[in-house]
Amino acid sequence: MTAASSKTPAGWVNPLLDSRDKRLPRIAGPCGVVIFGVTGDLSRKKLMPAIYDLANRGLLPPGFALVGFARRDWADENFAELVHDAVREHARTPFREEVWARLSEGIRFVPGSFDDDASFDDLASVVADLDQQRGTGGNHAFYLAIPPATFPVVLKQLARTGLAERNGDQWRRVVIEKPFGHDLNSACELNEIVNDVFPEESVFRIDHYLGKETVQNILALRFANQLYEPIWNSNYVDHVQITMAEDIGLAGRAGYYDGIGAARDVIQNHLLQLLALTAMEEPLSFSPGSLRGEKIKVLSAVKLAEPLDETTARGQYTAGWQGGTKVVGVLEEKGFHQGSTTETFAAITLHVDTRRWAGVPFFLRTGKRLGRRVTEVAVIFKRAPHLPFETTMTEELGQNALVIRIQPDEGVTIRFGSKVPGTAMEVRDVTMDFRYGTAFTESSPEAYERLLLDVLLGEPSLFPVNAEVELSWAILDPVLEHWAKHDGPEPYAAGTWGPPSADRMIATAGRTWRRP
Ligand code: BG6
Repeated sequence: MTAASSKTPAGWVNPLLDSRDKRLPRIAGPCGVVIFGVTGDLSRKKLMPAIYDLANRGLLPPGFALVGFARRDWADENFAELVHDAVREHARTPFREEVWARLSEGIRFVPGSFDDDASFDDLASVVADLDQQRGTGGNHAFYLAIPPATFPVVLKQLARTGLAERNGDQWRRVVIEKPFGHDLNSACELNEIVNDVFPEESVFRIDHYLGKETVQNILALRFANQLYEPIWNSNYVDHVQITMAEDIGLAGRAGYYDGIGAARDVIQNHLLQLLALTAMEEPLSFSPGSLRGEKIKVLSAVKLAEPLDETTARGQYTAGWQGGTKVVGVLEEKGFHQGSTTETFAAITLHVDTRRWAGVPFFLRTGKRLGRRVTEVAVIFKRAPHLPFETTMTEELGQNALVIRIQPDEGVTIRFGSKVPGTAMEVRDVTMDFRYGTAFTESSPEAYERLLLDVLLGEPSLFPVNAEVELSWAILDPVLEHWAKHDGPEPYAAGTWGPPSADRMIATAGRTWRRP
C-alpha cells in the first residue's frame, strides 16, 4: 500500500498503513511551477535557487517544469539564463551540470502583462503543452511573487483561462507571499478574492519563518521531551521575549517598506507565528488540521496589554554606525518619503488569556539597523522562591532562561546558576548550549526549499490558513490605529537596540530586554 492510498481527504495519514520511511524526504510527483514576478529579488535570491537545490537533492520529478511570466521580450533561453545566473549566485548546494541540464529542459517563458488576455491564453497553452511533452500531469502551482495589489487581476486571469481548474486527481495550487492585506478588513477581502478562485486547501500562504528548521524545532523541543512541559506555564515562566533584530536597513526595498513598517512586515506574521508555536497546547498529532487548530486556538486567546502608549513602542532609525560603517538614517534612504511616519522598529506587549499563560507577558520586538542580526525566543523563568544564600553570594545570579536561537548560530541555550570555583559559595549565571552546527552533520535546507517542496507535495502544515492571518490582524489592528492617531515614531540611532520608549515599555512591566 502506498502512502497516497492510505491518506484520507483531510490529509490524515494512518501511521499503521503508511509504510514510507519518514526519515527520507518525499519526492514530488509530476508537476510544474509557474512564477509571476520572475524579475524580482524573491525569485532570484530564493525561489530559483530553491528549485535548483531541490532538483540537486533528487526531490523533483524528472518531468518537472518551471514557467516564468513577466513583461519582458524574452524567449525561453533568456529566462533560462536568468535562472542559471540566480542559481550560480544563490543556490545552497554545489552546481552540477547534469542537474542543470535536466532542469533547464523544462524551463519556459511567457511574455506578457497581467491585464493582457492573450498572454494568459499563451500561458494556458504552454502549460497544456508541458503536460503533453514533459509529463507534468496537469499538476501546477502558481506562485504569486508579485505585489498584492496585482493578485486580483492575476487570479481572475487564472480563473478565466481555466488554469485554476483541476480535473480528476490533478491539482492546481496558488502560492501567495505576504503582506496578506494591511489590516483585518483588507486581509478578509483578499482572502475572499483568493478563495473565489482557489479553494482554501489549494492556497499556500508563505510565512518563510515556518520553513526554518529552528522554528520547527520549537515543536520538537516542546513535544518530544519530558523536561520542559511541566515548567512551560505561568507557575514557572515569568515572561517571554521574542526578538527579531536585523542589522540591515531597507536593502533597496524602500518602495515596499514605506507605508508598511516593522509591525505589519514582521510582527503580524513571523513573530505571532513564533508566539503561537511557543504558547500553543500540544496538538493531537502533527496533521495539518491538529497543528493549525491549536495555533488558531492560542491566537484567539492573545490580547494586547493596555494602555497602548505604555505597552507598545515604535521607532525610526537615524544615521549611525553599523559594524564600523557609517550608515544613513531611514529618511535618507532612496525611495523612502521625507516625513514618512513608517516605523522601522516596533515592540508590543501581549497576554495569552489561558489557564497556562495567565499573567505571563509576551514581549515582541523587531527592528532594522539594530545592534546585530538575531532572532530568538527567550523563555525567562521566575526566580527560585527561596535562596538559602547570603545576598552577596547571589549578586550575579539572574533568572533561569531557555533561549531558542532561530538564527544565526542556530540552537538552544539554557541559562542557570552555578557555583563559581573557589572556597567561597558564590553563584553566577552560566549557559549550556546546543548548536546545530556542531551537533549535526546534516546541513539545514533553506526555508524556501522546504516550503516549495511542501507545496508540490500538497503538505499544508507549515502554511498559515486564512483564520490565522485574520486573527493576527485582529491582534495588531488596535495598535496600528493607536499609532496612526499619535505622534510619529521615536528616533533611534542605527546600530543601537531601538528607541528609549522600548526600554520604558518593558521597564513599566518590571522587566528588562535581553541583550542577545
Ligand atoms: C521578511 C521581511 O519577511 O523577512 C523583511 O519582509 C526581513 O523585511 C526578512 O528582512 C528577514 O528574513 P530572515 O529570514 O533573513 O530573517
